[in-house]
Amino acid sequence: MATYRYVHRLHTAALATLLVLTSISGLAQSNAGLKGAPAIFNTECTSCHIGFAPSLTGEANWRGIMGGLDKHFGVDASIDEKSRQAISAWLISHAAKGSQYASVSPEFRISRSNWFIRQHDEVSSKVWKRASVKSPANCGACHGGADKGDFDEDRVRIPS
Ligand code: HEC
Ligand code: HEC
Repeated sequence: MATYRYVHRLHTAALATLLVLTSISGLAQSNAGLKGAPAIFNTECTSCHIGFAPSLTGEANWRGIMGGLDKHFGVDASIDEKSRQAISAWLISHAAKGSQYASVSPEFRISRSNWFIRQHDEVSSKVWKRASVKSPANCGACHGGADKGDFDEDRVRIPS
């Protein structure tokens, strides 16, 4: 009986670990993160850069981004209030959930969030400065499928 209970507890622990691992890797696996975007997102938020999938960061960062479109990284990306609300609602309802995505990152950037820095710790500072990369925000330089929300590590190619 005692043995049974011990084994049972081991199983429960293994299952809990598995669930945690699944939720951590959930982000990178949410490839089709741009599905169901409002039409206005596809015209407004993909004209200067790729459409960043809502699952790439948490609600707090999206609120920050969408609350400051008139001063958006040195450009004015403001839109009418109805469009702004439609995009915000979609981003927030599909935002990354969980405590590791709850905090704001500098400038509300995906590329300065903890998970991003961790996933990219093998990329040297020299690589980030290459003309072919320009900016960590330029996901498509290394992730060929970034515009479709594909960040699979097997398809990463760092440009020379
Ligand atoms: C007029 C051009 C323009 C438009 C329109 C625009 N952006 Fe941007 N966006 C930029 C620039 C420039 C940056 C900074 C890029 C860099 O640092 O390399 C940026 C950066 C971002 C970042 C941060 C990327 C990072 O470093 O993690 C997010 C998120 C973002 N934009 C979301 C949006 C959303 C959502 C919309 C639509 C409401 C939008 N953008 C519309 C120009 C634009
Ligand atoms: C300079 C090249 C480069 C740029 C730019 C870049 N990445 Fe990456 N990315 C990588 C490398 C390298 C890895 C790690 C691959 C590995 O672990 O084998 C990675 C891993 C990832 C992963 C994890 C993939 C997985 O399967 O676990 C995600 C998600 C990701 N990047 C998203 C982004 C996003 C979003 C942007 C833009 C805001 C971005 N990356 C910009 C090079 C880049």
